This record gives sequence, C-alpha cells and structure tokens, in this order.
Amino acid sequence: MYMIIFDRRCELYPILREICDRDEYTLSMKTLREHVTQIFQQTFHSDPAFIIRAPGRVNLLGEHVDYNDGFVLPAAIDRAVWLACSPSTTPHSTLVAVDLDEHISFSSETIATKTDINGQLLPHWAKYPVGVAWALGEAGYETPPINAIFTSDVPRGSGLSSSAAVEMGFGSAWQAAAGFEADAMTRARLGQRAENQYVGVNCGIMDQFASACGKRDHALYLDCRSFEWQTVPLPNDIAIVVADTAVPRSLSDSAYNERRSACEEGARLLGAKSLRDVRVEDFHRNKNRLPEMIARRAQHVVEEIQRAEQSVFLLKQDNVKAFGRLMNECHDSLRDLYEVSCPELNVMVNLARELDGCYGARLTGAGFGGCTVNLVAQSAAETFARELAQRYERETNKEPRVYICHADDGAGVV
Ligand code: GLA
Repeated sequence: MYMIIFDRRCELYPILREICDRDEYTLSMKTLREHVTQIFQQTFHSDPAFIIRAPGRVNLLGEHVDYNDGFVLPAAIDRAVWLACSPSTTPHSTLVAVDLDEHISFSSETIATKTDINGQLLPHWAKYPVGVAWALGEAGYETPPINAIFTSDVPRGSGLSSSAAVEMGFGSAWQAAAGFEADAMTRARLGQRAENQYVGVNCGIMDQFASACGKRDHALYLDCRSFEWQTVPLPNDIAIVVADTAVPRSLSDSAYNERRSACEEGARLLGAKSLRDVRVEDFHRNKNRLPEMIARRAQHVVEEIQRAEQSVFLLKQDNVKAFGRLMNECHDSLRDLYEVSCPELNVMVNLARELDGCYGARLTGAGFGGCTVNLVAQSAAETFARELAQRYERETNKEPRVYICHADDGAGVV
C-alpha cells in the first residue's frame, strides 16, 4: 500500500507527487528525517543523539466506544511526527515546534505551574510534551532535560491524532534519554493521562494506543477495558484511503464531553458499570427506560461495540465486503444516532460509496469535521482517490486532501 498525496498546499508536494513505489516512499521518510536533523544541528550546534518517529492513526471500526470500555480497531499510518533530540547539559529542556516556529524552555520546577522558565504560561502546543514529562514523573520515571525539535506531516485538526503523535514522540524521547524500561502500552496510558489531566482534554485511550503500538501492514485490536490487544494483518489487495473534508473539527471538545456524559447516564439508568456491559438484545428490551436522546447515544455505542467485535473476525477471514458493510453501518449510526457527523462528511461518504472499488466509507475519529476513512480495492485506489477529490470539490467548493495510507509501525527511535 502506498501513500499518494493530492495536497498542493503540502510543502513536500513536488516530491511526494512523484512517489509511486516503496523506495520512493522511503525517500520521503528520509526527507523528514533529514529535515529535523538539519534544524537540530542549526539550533543546537551538535548532532542529535536520537531521531524519533511517532505516527498518527486512522480508526477502522469502534468509534466513540473507547471511553465506554469497548473494542477499537485503529491502525497507525504513514504520516508522523518526527523528532530530533539529545540530552541537555542545562537544567532545563528546550523544545522547538518547527511547524509553528515557536520554542519553550521548562524545568522540573515549572512543570506543575504549567509555565516556562521565565514564568510565562505554556502555549497550548507545549502542554502536550510537557504534560508527558509530568505524567512520566508522576509514574516515577526519570525525565532528564533534553533539547528537542519536532515537525509533523500529520494534518492538524483533521481527526488523525496529531496530538497523540506528539505525545508518543516525546514519551519515546524521554525514554531514550533516560534509558528506562516501559512498554508501548504503558507509554500510551501515560500519554492519555497527560492529555486528560495536564492538557485538559477528556479523550479515551485509542489514539495514544494506536500511535504507540502500530505495526506495519496491520490493524490493531484493543479491548479498552482490559488493555489486551493484538495485531491483525490487513489484506494486501485493499487500500485505506483517508479523505480530509477540509472542514476543521469545530465545537468538538464540548460535544465530545456531552456524548461521554450521555453514555455514562445511559449506563447508570440501565444499571450497568458501562455500556460495554449492555448486550444489544438487552438494550433493545430496556431502551424505553431511557430518555429518547440518551437511548440514541447508547444504541450507537452498544451496536458499535458489537460491530467492532465482529469486524476482527471478518478481517481475519479476509471478508472485506462484510467488513466494509460494517463501516457503512458505523457511519450511518454516527450520523443518525450519535449525531457527530456534519454535511461535508456525509457528502464525502456518499460520493465514496458510489465509486468503483469502495467496500465501505465512514467518518473516522471524533467527527464534527475532519476525515473519512474508505476501504478500497487496491487496484481501484488511485482512480478512487482522484475521482473522490474532484467530485467533492465540485459539490462543496472545498479543496479536499485525499491520501492513500499505509498502516505503519508505532512510535520509537528510528
Ligand atoms: C477522539 C478521542 C478518542 C476516541 C475518538 C472517537 O479521537 O481522542 O479517544 O474517543 O475520538 O472514537
């Protein structure tokens, strides 16, 4: 599976446009690696000790169920945060966000107050890496001062988990600098803690999990209650096509929290610890005990958990058609019951379903804008991506970005 980019705004567009085989894909990775190395050398006048890559993710099935103890099936993708770092000889860490042209310095004394060494409040972007240092410290891991610069080709605000990729990149950076033992799931859980408690975003575990535990050519199946997980090979005759509506995710934090509360209320009224414990048949027997809106939210969750459980069997049997049907059902449920879609996401999904080779199309991530994920026959993928982009632009007047994605390895030193 290869990544083909139709994004003319991307600074790598001229190079990436030429990419048509694996060797050239490796070239684009080399380019980002060289990019961070060079900027590190210019900034800190030495070579970086470590280069780290931490991917974004796309979710195939199991949407809005991670915070209901359900099952999810994401994959890490070949768009990533690239980070160059070295231990620092000063008492503070200096972090440079290349894409924002900003930097901050903080020390162990300033972490708790969320300020830099000059007493200024941390800018929003810095709370992600500093939050990781905070969570590692709380869990008893050492976080020695580092110098680090990072850049990313995970589109921001598109539902591909650019923030989780930053968190997992810095988790790996401090692990490399301090040399402590921590497995990928431990880093993922600490990343989620950083985001929940330090940044203040009430996300589930899925995004950090996918970025930390990704495996090339595989999807990842996670039980969000027990944290047990497995990798599942993706059939090599299908492509995962991600289509960005160019609608930034709006109002998503408050609406996300509202959905979470509705689920908790639904579980409480049904006498369950969480909606994971409610079987679909029991839900339908008892749904009249719930207020109408709560019933719709809970119906999505209990049915989506069942879809995710079924999907992993279908994937193992290479039953791509049935898998795609579950993706379609998932979108329709997110649109009608969970109400986290938007007109542009629906247009993108409807157009995709009309195109040759498309097995399934749905919104991916939290919703309210951002991307769709499409399961497409490999042989049809390029035409599909081109047609989808053209038709979407014609219908909405918005310029979409369409990527043929490759499931890739999780965060770590490269
Ligand atoms: C966001 C959150 C995840 C998950 C998805 C919806 O990406 O960060 O934890 O809840 O939304 O499935």
